[in-house]
Amino acid sequence: MKREQWGSRAGFILAAVGSAIGLGNIWRFPYMAYENGGGAFLVPYLIAMLAAGIPFMILDFSLGHKYREAAPGTLGKLMPRLEILGWFQVLIAAVIAVYYVAVIGWAISYFGFSFTQSWGEDANSYFFSEYLKLGDNSPLSLGSLQMHIVLPLMLAWGITYAALVTGVKGGIERFGKIMIPILFLMVVGLTLRVLMLPGAVDGVNWLFQPDFSALTNPKVWSAAFGQIFFTLSVGFAIMIAYSSYLPEKSDINNNAFMTVLINCGFSMLAGVMIFAVLGYMAAQQGVPLNEVVSSGVGLAFITIPTAINLLPAPWLLGPLFFGALVVAGVSSHISIMEAITSAFMDKTGWSRKKTATVICSAGAIISLLFATNGGLLLLDVVDYFINNIAILGSCLIQLLVVGWILKPATFREYTNERSDFAIGRWWDVCIRFVSSAFLVAIVGTNLVTATTENYGGYSDMAIMVCGWGVLAAMVVIAVALSRRSSDSALAMEAQ
Ligand code: ALA
Repeated sequence: MKREQWGSRAGFILAAVGSAIGLGNIWRFPYMAYENGGGAFLVPYLIAMLAAGIPFMILDFSLGHKYREAAPGTLGKLMPRLEILGWFQVLIAAVIAVYYVAVIGWAISYFGFSFTQSWGEDANSYFFSEYLKLGDNSPLSLGSLQMHIVLPLMLAWGITYAALVTGVKGGIERFGKIMIPILFLMVVGLTLRVLMLPGAVDGVNWLFQPDFSALTNPKVWSAAFGQIFFTLSVGFAIMIAYSSYLPEKSDINNNAFMTVLINCGFSMLAGVMIFAVLGYMAAQQGVPLNEVVSSGVGLAFITIPTAINLLPAPWLLGPLFFGALVVAGVSSHISIMEAITSAFMDKTGWSRKKTATVICSAGAIISLLFATNGGLLLLDVVDYFINNIAILGSCLIQLLVVGWILKPATFREYTNERSDFAIGRWWDVCIRFVSSAFLVAIVGTNLVTATTENYGGYSDMAIMVCGWGVLAAMVVIAVALSRRSSDSALAMEAQ
């Protein structure tokens, strides 16, 4: 079967940007920046973007373009044993897909609430007690399904399924072409409006005010690198799958630079928008900025609703904010699911329709875990282990193989032959030394932290099951899936 292809270069870039820009930019980036010292976070963030983000994006694009298969097939062609890593990356995407969609579900609900601000005066207790109906403090006691969360969650699945089933050009590319311009218009419009509010500039200054003392804290570096890989959708099967649909003549270097810069520029814009709102809120309440902010998931679902209550025309700005969150989330969710769908299409030879139906149905059922009373806590633990250990670990292995076992220069020459501008030896240095060294230190530190401290103060059992247990299951399944493909390849050769 001939491999599907993007219809145009702009279509590919919009799809890649649509994948990169997501909840990671509007929901995660601002609270990561806030928790890690505001301006202090931006220095490691930009270093991570230059030293690891851009080189890794070029690497993923060149791998997908060269081998024209989803992550397991592509990494397997690079080196047979690496197929396991390919499946592990697909499983990272699978785990992210099932909790990511829950956050999109909340955003869909809040989009509806925002027309009348039905969260009321106390957005904090509304979110935890009335909306999530959060249970006791353990991700292991899930409680019951919350139908008011299940419904928007299923709506999000429906949109993702519709994009996947209609194919790369007719579905994913078309969705990107519609959604990304709308998203930019919404966020630029919102930012311009909120910047005019009194106090807004103080909030923005806080975000950009550097605090160099935070640079000695390894957690800030880990957060910055983790955020870069998550936000760029690299290292977990997505960009390999997307670039496997590129036509032979494709300007890989330029596409990679554009995707990274547009994505990170958008994160800054979202940061400005959120911190402008916070600055306004602090001014309205007459308190310092760090007293109005609740960090973590709360930033989008507690602080922003509280701020919307204070904004002029809340019925317009509220839906614009949550609408943007939904659009950004859905376009990324489509890419996360495509990474899985393409891997299974390559492996089974099934049609796109059959594969997407099976994968989305399975995903929709599993995602119900996150629509329960304990869903938020489960999400919190799983997200921590996926971002701090699985993604960074997977990126590290890919970097070490390309940098130290294979020759990075081969990949550089491959992309340079196809690109309008050539990348120099700095790329080899980044892959071989700079990014690898950062990741060795960060993954090492994260492993020590995760084994010596229970993240979030959860019980040993909760961390064992929802953190280490999930990672161990992913490794076992990845090995099993790669065995099955080699068995079927042998069987086909024997015929
Ligand atoms: N790159 C996607 C995001 O940032 C997954 O949300």
